[in-house]
Amino acid sequence: VPDRLNLGAHHSGSGARPVADAKPVTDLRGPVTGAKIRRFTLTARPATITLGSGKQVEAWTFDGRAPGPTLRVRQGELVEVRLRNAMPDLGVTLHWHGYDVPVGEDGVAGVTQDAVRPGGEFVYRFPAEDAGSYWYHSHDLSDPAVRMGLYGMLVVGPAPAPEEDSAKSESPQQSPASESSAAEPPAGVSDHTVSVHVLGGVPTAAVDDRPPADGLAPLRVSPGTPVRLRVTGTDNAPRILGVSGAPYRIAAVDGRDLPAAREVTGERVRLAAGGRHDLTFTMPATPVLLSADDRADLGVLVTPGSGAAPPPASGPLLDVTAYGTGGTPDPGPFDREITWVLDRGPAVLDGVPTLAHTVNGAVWPNIPAPVVREGELVKITVANRGRDTHPMHPHGHHVLVLSRNGVPAGGPVWTDTFDVGPGEVWEVALRADNPGIWMSHCHDLGHAALGMTFHLAYE
Ligand code: C2O
Ligand code: CU
Repeated sequence: VPDRLNLGAHHSGSGARPVADAKPVTDLRGPVTGAKIRRFTLTARPATITLGSGKQVEAWTFDGRAPGPTLRVRQGELVEVRLRNAMPDLGVTLHWHGYDVPVGEDGVAGVTQDAVRPGGEFVYRFPAEDAGSYWYHSHDLSDPAVRMGLYGMLVVGPAPAPEEDSAKSESPQQSPASESSAAEPPAGVSDHTVSVHVLGGVPTAAVDDRPPADGLAPLRVSPGTPVRLRVTGTDNAPRILGVSGAPYRIAAVDGRDLPAAREVTGERVRLAAGGRHDLTFTMPATPVLLSADDRADLGVLVTPGSGAAPPPASGPLLDVTAYGTGGTPDPGPFDREITWVLDRGPAVLDGVPTLAHTVNGAVWPNIPAPVVREGELVKITVANRGRDTHPMHPHGHHVLVLSRNGVPAGGPVWTDTFDVGPGEVWEVALRADNPGIWMSHCHDLGHAALGMTFHLAYE
């Protein structure tokens, strides 16, 4: 399937080979000819970020912001992002976390491309096909890179209705060279990205493209308006999210809608490091609080204009694998079964004996890559024998949760980052439909750096 591989082979900058026969992007991929191109440029550079309170922190940023600019695109568009690296001394890439791009666009330094060196650039291109909430981050020395701020949100909105399909974003024929700006959020819905991140040691909550609040990020919404908060966990630790002041739904997990999401009141929900939950509610006449980690002073305060914040939600923790209804149909028979046993153990990393995080008893780069064939249905059993939580993140694919600790999933939940707690066993299914060599790792990026990184390979 050559058109799924290495679409982005246009390198430039240090060490790159020039592409002599560069064609217009629409010629590179047949099915998207005529698609609107949504173009962005992101420049990685150090910057001082001013938080909501006026406090300043040093960060590594895209375009001087952390989180970087929110990239909003529409289904059916072709996304083209030019990454420029203006960091003095750091390789940078862009990985589209949760967006199942063709492998050449996956942005994993050392696997799908070389890191973009200072002064260099790289152009990523992929068709926006799956609506949902995603994020992007650098994937070279990911642990410090993401912690320091090299990440941002990616939202793929549904395809525009024909009458909306105006001259807002140009077709390539009309003006091939102009930069598109981000797509508008859907009319009638108060639709926002939210990321909670400890930036420079300060817990923050960021809404859309506003500077991160080191406290409650304010959002004003008129009563009666449907609200969608696309919350992303960008740190190495899971987040406990709570919504108080209105009943709400978990409308989507990791970019995939949850069918028949039921309304809950006061429950809290656990968001894996790297995962996304879209929380929806109808704005009441009084304030709604999205709290992080049960704190009254961290999260988003949505108000109709005035009123005091309700106390943070303190209800039971909702298990999203049991949240849906109707059960998950058995997708088998499986063509292949894979087991990942997660643990902690001594290993030699970079020549240094370390207490590492292991998969099947080994550490990167010695964990044998499970091999699949295109089209296969693969069952993965993940057993955590250690004492740490591991948010497992296979690149390039979503997995369907079959069971958690022997309890079958309540309804279909597709995920790309799932928290396997100490002693837990998860069974998930994956359709091998995106050929390549894909990194898989724990999204506690400190654990990934301490061995828990391997690959899924297509034979
Ligand atoms: Cu969020 Cu391997 O990445
Ligand atoms: Cu881990």
